Amino acid sequence: MSFFTKPTKAKATATVRAKDDGHDRPVPWIENRPRSMTDVSAQEEVVQVLRKCLESQNLPHLLFYGPPGTGKTSTILAMTRDMFGPELMRSRVLELNASDERGIQVIREKVKNFARSTVSQNDSGRSCPPYKIIILDEADSMTSDAQAALRRTMENYSKITRFCLICNYVSRIIEPLASRCAKFRFKPLPVEQSKAKLAYICGQEGITHEAGALDQVIDASEGDLRRATMFLQSAHRLYTNQALTAPAIQEIAGVIPAQRIAELTSAWQSKSYEAIRTAVDQAVWAGFSAHQIISQVHDAVIDGAQWTSLQKAQLAQLMGAVDKCLSDGADEHLQLLNFMMQASKLVA
Ligand SMILES: Nc1ncnc2c1ncn2[C@@H]1O[C@H](COP(=O)(O)OP(=O)(O)OP(=O)(O)O)[C@@H](O)[C@H]1O
Ligand SMILES: [Mg+2]
Repeated sequence: MSFFTKPTKAKATATVRAKDDGHDRPVPWIENRPRSMTDVSAQEEVVQVLRKCLESQNLPHLLFYGPPGTGKTSTILAMTRDMFGPELMRSRVLELNASDERGIQVIREKVKNFARSTVSQNDSGRSCPPYKIIILDEADSMTSDAQAALRRTMENYSKITRFCLICNYVSRIIEPLASRCAKFRFKPLPVEQSKAKLAYICGQEGITHEAGALDQVIDASEGDLRRATMFLQSAHRLYTNQALTAPAIQEIAGVIPAQRIAELTSAWQSKSYEAIRTAVDQAVWAGFSAHQIISQVHDAVIDGAQWTSLQKAQLAQLMGAVDKCLSDGADEHLQLLNFMMQASKLVA
């Protein structure tokens, strides 16, 4: 049976397809979120505390934070579904994310109106809490003014409304707002749990893989289950009817072969501009992004025994500066060349 045609997932798939034009098109696997809190992998502490809050019907305002693809959005959606059931969710849950306008005006009108509207009658016969939930996903992209406007709304309507703020960077949430919420930290998914989830998807989709392939997916995705799932689906598309191998995953994920990284770091020893430029040119022409190169050179340097602690610290400082320039949009080729030249001076 396909991963998408399991009876429990049928509805989620249908929703995604309904947004489409009604045709039976395949959807990205990452759209297949956990339907209930029992399906959330890892994050045991978070799930356990949320369960206790639900049992006592005493839910505080929530603030979920942590790196991408660790289950923040999925957990709150699964929790509200467990609380209200699929029918009541529409009237009890308001979800706004970064793609919605969430300036101060929207907070004053839309959010406030939803927050103060009384809870609709529960006709479904299931026992559920007498309040509504407002989910503000990607809250770290809200302006400080809009966040400030939320403070009073949260207090005034706390009897009938609970807020759940979700972000990657908790430091971007203003302190008065953060202090009104119970904070939950989502950690990158541990290898074992990621592997179990990927193995489950492979089982459902009939994907075969050689030893080490799933480890390579996990390695390249750094605890982000969304990325891992994307890599798996891309690899499956490209290598349909073939067993997935570690090199195939490396190719999909844009991981640079260790040999290429070794060529770059050994070019430092030559101290020759020509040799360094050739190594950089070859890496850039091979299509690798400067970000990925710097990230992998960083890992190689930290693990390498041939450099002293001082050299590692200096190289890390250099890489930090280059990374910032790249994030600001600087030219990749020039930044790499600059980094390589400076690094060769450090590792005499
Ligand atoms: N802990 C988890 N348990 C089960 N599935 C997960 C978990 N974490 C991530 N996933 C899967 O990865 C995908 C992305 O998860 P989700 O959208 O919840 O991440 P997020 O933490 O909200 O990320 P972002 O910070 O980028 O918004 C979903 O399809 C979901 O199925
Ligand atoms: Mg999210």
